[in-house]
Order: sequence, then structure tokens, then C-alpha cells
Amino acid sequence: MQDQKTSLPNAERYTITAALPYTNGPIHIGHLAGVYIPADIYARYLRLNNKDVAFVCGSDEHGVPITLKAKKEGITPQEVVDKYHAIIKRSFEDFGITFDNYSRTSAKIHHDTASDFFKNLYDKGKFIEEVSAQLYDDEAKQFLADRFVIGTCPKCGNEESYGDQCENCGTSHNATDLINPRSAITGNIPTLKETKHWYLPLNEYENWLKEWIVEGHKNDWKTNVLGQVKSWTNDGLKPRAVTRDLDWGIPVPLEGAEGKVLYVWFDAPIGYISSTKEWAERVGKDWEPYWKDRNTKLIHFIGKDNIVFHCIIFPSMLKADGNYILPENVPANEFLNLEGDKISTSKNWAVWLHEYLEEFKDKQDVLRYVLTANAPETKDNDFMWKDFQARNNNELVAIFGNFINRVVVLTNKYYNGLVPMAGELSEVDQNTLNKLKEYPQIISDSIERYRFREALAELMNLARLGNKYLADEEPWKQIKTDPERVNTIMNIALQIAAGLSILSEPFLPFTSSKLKSILKNVELVSECDWNDLATIPAGHQIGKPELLFAKIEDAEIQLQIDKLEATKEGNKEEIVEPQKETIGFDDFTKLDIRIGTILEAVKVPKTKKLLQLKVDVGIDTRTIVSGIAESFKPEDIIGQKVSVLVNLAPRTLRGVESQGMILMANTPDGKLTFVEPENDTVSNGGQIS
Ligand code: 2FM
Ligand code: ZN
Repeated sequence: MQDQKTSLPNAERYTITAALPYTNGPIHIGHLAGVYIPADIYARYLRLNNKDVAFVCGSDEHGVPITLKAKKEGITPQEVVDKYHAIIKRSFEDFGITFDNYSRTSAKIHHDTASDFFKNLYDKGKFIEEVSAQLYDDEAKQFLADRFVIGTCPKCGNEESYGDQCENCGTSHNATDLINPRSAITGNIPTLKETKHWYLPLNEYENWLKEWIVEGHKNDWKTNVLGQVKSWTNDGLKPRAVTRDLDWGIPVPLEGAEGKVLYVWFDAPIGYISSTKEWAERVGKDWEPYWKDRNTKLIHFIGKDNIVFHCIIFPSMLKADGNYILPENVPANEFLNLEGDKISTSKNWAVWLHEYLEEFKDKQDVLRYVLTANAPETKDNDFMWKDFQARNNNELVAIFGNFINRVVVLTNKYYNGLVPMAGELSEVDQNTLNKLKEYPQIISDSIERYRFREALAELMNLARLGNKYLADEEPWKQIKTDPERVNTIMNIALQIAAGLSILSEPFLPFTSSKLKSILKNVELVSECDWNDLATIPAGHQIGKPELLFAKIEDAEIQLQIDKLEATKEGNKEEIVEPQKETIGFDDFTKLDIRIGTILEAVKVPKTKKLLQLKVDVGIDTRTIVSGIAESFKPEDIIGQKVSVLVNLAPRTLRGVESQGMILMANTPDGKLTFVEPENDTVSNGGQIS
């Protein structure tokens, strides 16, 4: 983690926050692409531009996900957070995320800061105190807050919504709003029990939020963020409980509130403030200007599931206090999927950062590159291992690496590594140098609008410019006929290489530092300004060639694909439906199941799933409507042996009377297969008993 080394009295001040990751699992590529890489690019860029930056983060160690994980693993919540905090902190460091401070919400400084924040709002009368009936699990003997309860989302109908938020539509709600709630601990249907809580009356902040965000930031905040804010404020905001009946969290600092803790989403964003305090104490600074000076720009980097908390709830808390600045922007990203499926910590469907760092040694920048080039900035995107390989081999190796290698090899070959003096410049030379000078501004414009993909594409365009210049000027040919001209060409190519070493730093920091050391221009660039790229003077000695990027072979990628396949297989095996309610033998003997043969099959018009079948069941030939059209084509199942429940009461489906039911089994890939006798051993009408 990086400390600000220089004091920057006149610099603009920025407080940059990156969502505090839950400490119930390691960091994966979805977190990196959505939050940490863009935040780090931004922070590095600002530091290079001599801004005064506090880039803070830390582990989010409270909340129900941690408690659930502890229950699942049979360990304490503290053991869960200790384990993952260490893994997460280490992997961020190894990946080159330059937080000025990485804290944790179990730290004393955070408990004190969050308690004081709550107490202060309480003393100012900013909460509503209310006794109300909340969901309770009689068997587990606890209230069911947040993720302890699952049910149907009142907004979109998702049957797996959590008590505090629906992951399908993003709506944030109260647990009592869920339809058909059930306990995530026991599966029981909850009862209602009265309990006292403190509520932040968000309704009182609704008009102000509309004015400040929907109107005030309509031109500079991302449309996905504005869209969500508009939707919530238009639906009408309700008071929101900021305390919970749980035994894991920060105790509510009031008399008579024993057994209650602060809601995790009340304490977590305050974690940004306590992390800033921890940093300031460590480096001997004053934390307050970073949160209270109106000239400071506060930027929250988050994923789209956190928008409501950073654009509605936390700003309302800051506003209620009255002493804090509000975010200048909240550039939330959409989600990254993995090989077509949603990334999931619980299903182990992810590329884990700590594993990547072990398996792809010294390739941090490849992942940074691919995740930025394909960042889910405006829509959900997919990470594909083949694309990872192609971007490395065809872009980093073939464009960036190739240009630098040519420049360094030729400079060593022709001049023993001494930068040659440029002679008279041709029009092409001048245009090339002019273009080089434009790049800092071009890249800045994109970064300052949080368009990191675009900024990275421009960086690669600079490498392309270098490649094209060399390919057009062909120094390797001209060296035989016009060595003086080659002096100029190589001098210009070296200026482009130096420019790349500086402008790549926010995106590819390991490469940038390697390139600076190859060019031996560490001192030259440490003095230079982003907007006024240093020139490498003639006579400067550069180092020997070293490859910046290496080709990634098919076998390495196949290993990763196989690993994911194995996860998929493992997950399939786990999906076994629980046994249904016990039935008596009499119930079973009532079922008349016969072997039959399909004689005819046609699709039921205007349906996706239904086939109308004629089946010979031995007793008679009858019509059966079956929901198997997504698994079979009609023409493929003529003559198919099937098992049929023949005494099921007839039902009319889409105007056709169905006289029985074909028995089917579900395959792991979500299709259906027939339940049939082996090798035609049973004739039509044969009974299953
Ligand atoms: O979604 C999450 O992973 C949360 N732990 C983010 C918290 S951000 C903040 F407010 F601290
Ligand atoms: Zn929903």
C-alpha cells in the first residue's frame, strides 16, 4: 500500500473510495473489473498529475454473509474474517492496487467512528425510533434480517430475493416486504415478533436527492447510476432501519439496545472515513479535509448492486450529519460474467485473484489489461479465457511488446544503447512527434470521464503509432544506405517508447516500471509531468532488451477451461432435489404406470414447450400433451418407448385433452430424458410396480 511521499500544498484534493469487499470469500475477476482496477487506474492517474490523493478501502467484516459462511464452515465469524482479510489484503498488494490504506471494519478505529456517527445523528434527532413486528425464526431463536431471509421480491417476482435486496432487479427493501418469506437458516416459515429499531427517514431526503442527483448530475453521472436513482426516488423512499437484532456487528451505542447492532450498510460506508483516519494517523496528516473540505472531490468506485447504498443511503447519512462533503461522482460498473455464466462465490464459478497470481506468475498486467479492455462499463460483459489469450498474444505481445522490443534491440545493435541525436525532421517525423504530444490529453479526457476502456485503447493506439512509424521508415533497410536518417528515426521511436513508459503506468504499472528500467529513464520520468512527456536526451544510455510480455500457449488456457469444467461438473452433482413428503404404500398402489410407444408427435401451435402425442399404452391409443418440446423434435421420437401414468385425471391443455402423463427424468444440463425399459423387454401395456 502506498503512502503519499510528497506534500502537495496546492494540489487539488481527491478522496477515492473502492467498495469494501465482504470478507466471506476471496477477490475474483468480477470485483477487479467492476471496482478495483478502475479505481486504481484513476488514483494512479491523479497521483501522476500531482493531485493530493487518499485512496482508501478495507474489509467489510460485518453483515449476514459472514455469519452464514461461519455457520456453514462451523467456525466463528471472527475466524472467517481473519482468514479472508489476510487473503484479500495480500492479493490486492500483489496485484498492484495502490490503496493508501486498506483497513477492516473490525478495527477499533472503525467501531469508534461508526458508533460516534450513529450517536451524533441520534443526538440530533435524525432517527425515528419504532417498535414493529419483524420476521423471527422460532427454531433458530433469532430475528431474520437481510440475507437470513429469502422470499419473493415484491417488485420483480424473483423467488430468491434476500431480505434487504433483490439481486435480480436491484431493489432494496425491508425483509417484511418479501412475499412468502422463509428462513435461510432452517428453511422454516418465519413468525412475527415485536422489536425496537432506529430508522433513517429516507422519505425526508427524497426531494433533496432528486434535486442533487437527478437534476444536478444529469449530465455527468453514468446513465446506469442515474437510472437506478430515478427509479427509487420515483417509487418513493421509505424510512429504512439502520439497526438489526444480530450478534455480529457494531453494538448500537444506546442504553436499552443490548443485543442490537448497526445495520452493515450503515457501518460499511463509514469504513471509508475510518480508513482515511487510520491512514492520516499513520502518515501524520489531518483526515478532516479529505471528508469535510468542500474543495475535496469524493469519488466512490462500486459495482451496480451497491448503487442504492452509495447514491441514496450513505449520502442521506452524510447530509443528516451536515458536516461532510457529498460524492462528486459514483462511477458504478455493471457486472462481469465468466464464460457466459454469472460469477458466483458460493458456486465457485469465478477466477480467483490469489489463484491467478500463483498460476500466472508476473502476469498481473495481462489481467489488468484484459479486464480493462473488456470492462463492464455500460453493460454486463463476459470474461472468456480464449479472449484473455488472444488479447495477450495479439495485442500486448504483438503490438506493445513488439514495438518496444524493436526499439530497444535496434538501439543496442546500432548504437550500443546510446540514444542517437535527431537530425533534420521530415514531415512524417514532425507529425509523429505532434501526435505523441497529443496522447496525454487524449488519455486524460477519457480517464476523467471514467471511460477506462477508451483510455486504454488510446494507449494502444500510441503503441500502434510507433509500430507504423518503424514499419514505414524501415530503419533496418535505411541503415545500409542512410545511417544519418536512422539516427533521427530511432531518436523519435525512443521518444514514443518513453511516452509509453509514462502513459501506461495507470493501466499496466508493472510493465511501465519494467520499461522505465529498460530505458534507464527512471530519473528522467520521475521529474516529468504527465502532460509534458520527458524527452530522452541524445547520448543517454539505455539498457539491454528484455521481453515485456510473453505469448500464452493453448495448454495454459486449456488448464483454466478444464478447471471451470470441473467446477461445473461438481456443481451438477450437488444439485439433488430434496426428498418429497413421505406417502403411504396405498398412495403408491393407486398409480397405474404402463409402458407405451409414441406413434405420432406434433407441436402444439403457439407454445414453446408442448408436444401433442398419440401413445399406444396397451390398453388403448390415447392423446397425451407433454412439455418436452424443448428437449425433443417431434420426428425424432416416433417409436420411442415411454412410461406413462395412465390413470391421471384428464386435463385440457391449450384446447387439447391430455389423457395421462409421460414420465421423464431431468438431465444435469437442464434437458429431459425418457424413463424407458431396457432393450424393448416390456410390451405396450406392461405395468410398472
Ligand atoms: O457488496 C459488497 O461487497 C459490500 N461489502 C460493499 C460495501 S461498500 C461500502 F459501503 F463499504
Ligand atoms: Zn426483484
